[in-house]
Amino acid sequence: MKPYTRIIGTGHYLPSNVLTNEDVEKVCDTKSDWIVERTGIEQRHFCEDGEGTSDMAEVAARRALESAGISAEELDLIIVGTSSPDYGSPSVAAILQDRLGCKTICAFDISAACTGFIYSLGVADSMVKAGAAKTALVIGAERISTYIDWEERNTAVLFGDGAGAAIITASDEPGILSTHLHADGSKKDILFLNNGKPVYEPQDRANKVSMVGPDVFKNAVKRFSEVIDQCLTENNVAKEDIDWLVPHQANLRIIQAVQKKLGMNDEQVVVTVNKTANNSAATVPIALDLAIRDGRIKPGQLVISAAFGAGLTWGALLLRV
Ligand SMILES: CC(C)(COP(=O)(O)OP(=O)(O)OC[C@H]1O[C@@H](n2cnc3c(N)ncnc32)[C@H](O)[C@@H]1OP(=O)(O)O)[C@@H](O)C(=O)NCCC(=O)NCCS
Repeated sequence: MKPYTRIIGTGHYLPSNVLTNEDVEKVCDTKSDWIVERTGIEQRHFCEDGEGTSDMAEVAARRALESAGISAEELDLIIVGTSSPDYGSPSVAAILQDRLGCKTICAFDISAACTGFIYSLGVADSMVKAGAAKTALVIGAERISTYIDWEERNTAVLFGDGAGAAIITASDEPGILSTHLHADGSKKDILFLNNGKPVYEPQDRANKVSMVGPDVFKNAVKRFSEVIDQCLTENNVAKEDIDWLVPHQANLRIIQAVQKKLGMNDEQVVVTVNKTANNSAATVPIALDLAIRDGRIKPGQLVISAAFGAGLTWGALLLRV
């Protein structure tokens, strides 16, 4: 059995429908300048009517398979990080197993909000290293536009839709060096759907996302810092050795706080939040794919990624590309 795992292909998809801040001004009591100044966001992509999470995930998956140079029949595991699946069940992963023409392989979703891709990659990495699978398709895909309430302006302006995918496989060479996954459910009330009401209770804001923005901001910066420290320490890696930071794209100010902590310059940080807004579980694989495809991230380089989201959940990933 091969002792390591590597990412051998990536892909992403963003819906063609672009909503600029100026478009948002027409449906929400906000100003483009405020959004740019407080978040760095200039635009976001929203699904068309009838376009769902599995549709976006399928395109991202096909692009990742193509870049890996393998067929769907070679997969033996699919994990999708999503908090906005098409159905309560079946999972997005099961839908993809069928649509991609895979064998009857293990396929399931993980609900870890914005940390969904790092959670999914962590679980897939463990399963491949344990010999339970050889080659896995790992996806982060979200249709957050479903949950947006334009009356709640501090939340509504932040999100967009999209999907990103990676193919990982067993390898003789180290690639995914470690993943670090955490949760703290005691803070579930600062970022939630349904006004924090369980689905079995009468709803006044069914399927609407809300948050206590400043609390989320503070917790994000704290947990990002902690998990990056943990990742560097456990790998015995100095921050100077990191070539690239591929952070979750929630807010440019959060990214800059993490960048400052790592002492990295702007040219070492992959930023997409200005063009994509926050695609929740999809931000990390979208950013990774963009920077690999445009040649910024090169083979052999060391990449650290970290994410934070509702739950609360947070995690980090260290990767030799
Ligand atoms: C949401 C967020 C951008 C708000 O920024 P902030 O600087 O903390 O702003 P506050 O919430 O303190 O609000 C400041 C003012 O802006 C106003 N405001 C909030 N949203 C606004 C909007 N979209 N447009 C215009 N004004 C807005 C508020 O009403 C408030 O006005 P007041 O001072 O008159 O009461 C920021 O808290 C944030 O990014 N938090 C983290 C969000 C996140 O990343 N969530 C996902 C995590 S995965």
